[in-house]
Amino acid sequence: MSKIVDLRSDTVTRPVPAMRTAIAEAEVGDDVFGDDPTVILLEKRIAELFATETALFVPSGTMGNQVALASLTQPGDEIILDRQCHIFNYEVAAAPALSGLQFNPLDGDGGVITTDDIVPHIRQRDIHAPVTRIIAIENTHNRAGGRVFPLDEMKRIRALADERDLVVHLDGARLANAVVASGIPFKEYAACADTVSMCFSKGLGAPVGSVVAGVNATIDKARRKRKQFGGGMRQAGILAAAALYALDHHIDRLADDHANAKRLGAAIDAIDGLDLVYPVETNIVIFRVDDGYDTVGNLLARLEANGVLAVPFGSDRVRMVAHLDVDAGDIARAADVLAGLGPAN
Ligand SMILES: Cc1ncc(COP(=O)(O)O)c(C=O)c1O
Repeated sequence: MSKIVDLRSDTVTRPVPAMRTAIAEAEVGDDVFGDDPTVILLEKRIAELFATETALFVPSGTMGNQVALASLTQPGDEIILDRQCHIFNYEVAAAPALSGLQFNPLDGDGGVITTDDIVPHIRQRDIHAPVTRIIAIENTHNRAGGRVFPLDEMKRIRALADERDLVVHLDGARLANAVVASGIPFKEYAACADTVSMCFSKGLGAPVGSVVAGVNATIDKARRKRKQFGGGMRQAGILAAAALYALDHHIDRLADDHANAKRLGAAIDAIDGLDLVYPVETNIVIFRVDDGYDTVGNLLARLEANGVLAVPFGSDRVRMVAHLDVDAGDIARAADVLAGLGPAN
């Protein structure tokens, strides 16, 4: 059978040969002692790119988010965030479990929460109430189909946070996709947040690794939290080398993923019984499967039998993600397979 077209996630990418060479040739040291030159270089590069004081290399996006939240808050504080966001849905309740935070999830519109949504939820100082301390936003937004969080709204959230003595965390696991789709530089997004995380292991094609950036005082705390959470790494330069390679070679090409996802989305939307849930802005396609067409489980099984992999995204939805390891031909094949399957019922 021809190649499997794996559209489950942009995390399934494998390091390209030149990235493997960069990994093999990386200079390393013990990063817990602050001795790994490649990690130091990566952290400097990110601080420059984001125009933050400093940055910290971490093993995963989840850890980047969690060390940031832990560094910005006290146990018992409350975090305002969108109900569909990754921190609320997919981090195993780490924020309450590890940092004692209480979630206050809001119903955003396609992943976007606005200052109008947030203001009524900022608590008055009262002996009975938790302290509203932090707002978390996600850009691009995974469950909202890779939507780019509008910069103007982020700026309004920044201004509100300053006015009400709150802090802002940006879960920028796919911030590079937002940058490429919008043409807005990393630093403009980063300026809206106190801490920003970003993953190298998704669309950027590295095997492991994320980063969290901010001011020195916060990132010093985050470094301690990383150790406390078991994320201190030793000769991590082999991973940082992959991340540096990704920064140099895999950002601009995200535009190809976005074009492929748009093509796939248009093909899916043309099928009676399958409907795009969100317009495709970056590399993620989420579509609804009508009852009369098929069940999600059966449709995924029929796709798999024809060499196309995707994931369920709720009871009536499927997610497909374009990435480095699928080209326009693979995307055309996935679209053809879907169109050829037809309704099961
Ligand atoms: C928006 C978002 N944030 C954070 C993460 C967590 O990243 P990791 O899987 O590296 O922990 C993901 C993973 O898919 C994500 O989509």
